Amino acid sequence: MTQQTAADKPTSIVIFGASGDLTHRKLIPAVFNLFRKHRLPEKFFIIGSARTPMDDDAFRKALLDGVKQFASYQYTDQEWEAFASHLSYHAGDFTAEGEEHKLAQYLAEQEAGPADRLYYLATPPKFFPGIAAALGRANMLSEAEGFRRIVLEKPFGTDLKSALALSEQLHQVMSEQQIYRIDHYLGKETVQNMLVFRFANGIFEPIWNRNYVDHVQISALEQVGLEHRAGYYDGVGVVRDMFQNHMLALLTLVAMEPPASFNATPLRNERAKVLSAVRPIRPDRLGQETVRGQYAGYRQEDGVAPDSQTPTYAAMRFYVDNWRWQGVPFFLRSGKKLKEKRTEIIIQFKKPPHAMFPDAAVDSMPANVLAICLTPDEGIHLRFDAKVPDTVAGMRPVDMDFTYADAFGPRSIPEAYERLLLDALHGDQSLFNRNDQVELAWQLLDPVIAGWEAPGGPPLAMYEPGGYGPDEADELMLRNGRAWLRGGCGKDLTTGAAEK
Ligand code: BG6
Repeated sequence: MTQQTAADKPTSIVIFGASGDLTHRKLIPAVFNLFRKHRLPEKFFIIGSARTPMDDDAFRKALLDGVKQFASYQYTDQEWEAFASHLSYHAGDFTAEGEEHKLAQYLAEQEAGPADRLYYLATPPKFFPGIAAALGRANMLSEAEGFRRIVLEKPFGTDLKSALALSEQLHQVMSEQQIYRIDHYLGKETVQNMLVFRFANGIFEPIWNRNYVDHVQISALEQVGLEHRAGYYDGVGVVRDMFQNHMLALLTLVAMEPPASFNATPLRNERAKVLSAVRPIRPDRLGQETVRGQYAGYRQEDGVAPDSQTPTYAAMRFYVDNWRWQGVPFFLRSGKKLKEKRTEIIIQFKKPPHAMFPDAAVDSMPANVLAICLTPDEGIHLRFDAKVPDTVAGMRPVDMDFTYADAFGPRSIPEAYERLLLDALHGDQSLFNRNDQVELAWQLLDPVIAGWEAPGGPPLAMYEPGGYGPDEADELMLRNGRAWLRGGCGKDLTTGAAEK
């Protein structure tokens, strides 16, 4: 028998829940693009597993339909054919006693020897413990012959208690080093660029603190509503869906200290330190420091309870209690059915302490604003004042712009899932959440959710679809002497202009 070399050793990507939306919408378009870029291992298998009966051809066809609809790149039929030959499907209820061995055997037959394996759980979270237990029962997590890693989609638990319980269930059969808790925002190019922007440039870090920053705004506005996801969303709501993961992830990247090196442990330590420094919102202050909203018509959506109290919009004010950020408010907001899709981070700097110019009082001089645009028109914009030519000291805000499209070409930005899948294959956990990060995030938000749901909690603010959310969110800013701003995301917009 010939000896297997490292290049011969196959890698299997096993997708649980492979007949679902995520697989054909996000995962396969991402893996196919990695294949086109020659970034996958030499020898690999992609095995879909789900209960839906289907043969390999039907599986491949469903995935091709997904690629046609959702891939943002051009590809040839030959490329697809070459990729499709790596795809297969195994039907069955993996979590049923005895069934797990069938998949184990199927994999062993395909791999025909030692192999590395990435298990991707693209199922509803209620199946995570069952799948993990079945993987353990079938001895599919032993790393004796190659790596065994497990990628879990969010949400990781529905509160602190369930997240702790889930981590404990996983740790019974695998180590934390084998667990990759995904937050697709961390896979976004623009989000990772926060690290480069802050720590590869010398000029921003010295002013990135309470001495120069007036406040921070993090907005994730969406135009879409439920998109037939009522079964998942109703009862979950925007805090669990967006804040516990994506919004707090963005906050950590804005606020973190420079890690000693670009490695998973120091990066994750610094992000966790920010979360542990965020001041919990006091239950008696929820009415002043948070807003929860629901769009008009939500309760009429298919699958939504007619008296649903689920928030589809939230705004919150946080403080980060440490030396760097003491006293600087961080305003976070996210909602569905709003006027536009816009995800951005705005850093507003303090105004100059003294106005020496004749006609401009300090108050009327706009502050400098740095806007980091995640969607659309990915880029970074800086607003500063310039002298209007041919006046004595007239001034007007102007923008300094960087866009990815101009600097790196259109379509230069890959899908978030490409980076994350590749990192998981390479064993790099930097962009995945460790258990303590997830738990700290729940610890902050559990009391908010509980306080909202308690009798006497702040009322649900209704808002009309197509606007910028409830008036109460504007009032929150007004009470703080600020207003929601828009960055330069979107062409021809002035960075830092008031939103309304
Ligand atoms: C998902 C949420 O995690 O993120 C969705 O479940 C939301 O409700 C989506 O629409 C937003 O992601 P993106 O990348 O479009 O900003």
